[in-house]
Amino acid sequence: MTPVITVDGPSGAGKGTLSARLTQFLGWHFLDSGALYRLTGLAATNHGVAFDNEPALSLLAEHLDVRFDSSGERTLIFLEGDDVTDTIRTEDVGAMASKVAAVQVVRDALLNRQRAFQEAPGLVADGRDMGTVIFPEAELKLFLTASPEERAKRRYLQLKDKGHDVSIARLAEEIRLRDERDTNRSVSPLKPADDAFVIDSSGLNIDEVTDLAIQQVKKKGLAPS
Ligand code: C5P
Repeated sequence: MTPVITVDGPSGAGKGTLSARLTQFLGWHFLDSGALYRLTGLAATNHGVAFDNEPALSLLAEHLDVRFDSSGERTLIFLEGDDVTDTIRTEDVGAMASKVAAVQVVRDALLNRQRAFQEAPGLVADGRDMGTVIFPEAELKLFLTASPEERAKRRYLQLKDKGHDVSIARLAEEIRLRDERDTNRSVSPLKPADDAFVIDSSGLNIDEVTDLAIQQVKKKGLAPS
């Protein structure tokens, strides 16, 4: 079986950066599962589909017309032919994502699309339920967390860097709401797998977090020789 490393955790914990570093270190494929929920939320909004219209949401998720273009320096994401790479990163689309993500039929519709990313030589999968639901047999499961204040600060700097005008207080409140929805939902709630290695990145920089993760990768014999 093609090996999988899962990186789960709440928003703003640094999963994206850590996953990118691991992907590069290993030369493996990368699944950004959050992007699929963001795309589904955005598509629902664009098509005027209500977040409680389960049959329509399920159809939308199943037939999502998405293209990931990794030919350039950064991966571009197209929804129905439109470049939405930056649009889907806003906190507004994050909120849409967490609403559609709480709908079981949406999660079912995206299941196979996510598993199809498991291709040789290996996959780094970033999300909330990668280790618990999508890849329960993963060779290594990492759960990355950080204090809510630290996560709000990081998201603030990340969005500001991309030119988005955001207030840190509003961001902290939006992150708190999203965490609450993700943690308390009945379907695939955010929680570490029983066999996950938990890293609290509060007070650590990305190099220190990467070092801790790579130690685990080596321990599992997954590092390239
Ligand atoms: O990781 P990201 O912030 O892009 O995820 C956006 C939202 O999508 C999350 O807040 C969560 O509600 C949902 N999500 C999920 N399961 C995943 C990945 C993301 O429910 N595997």
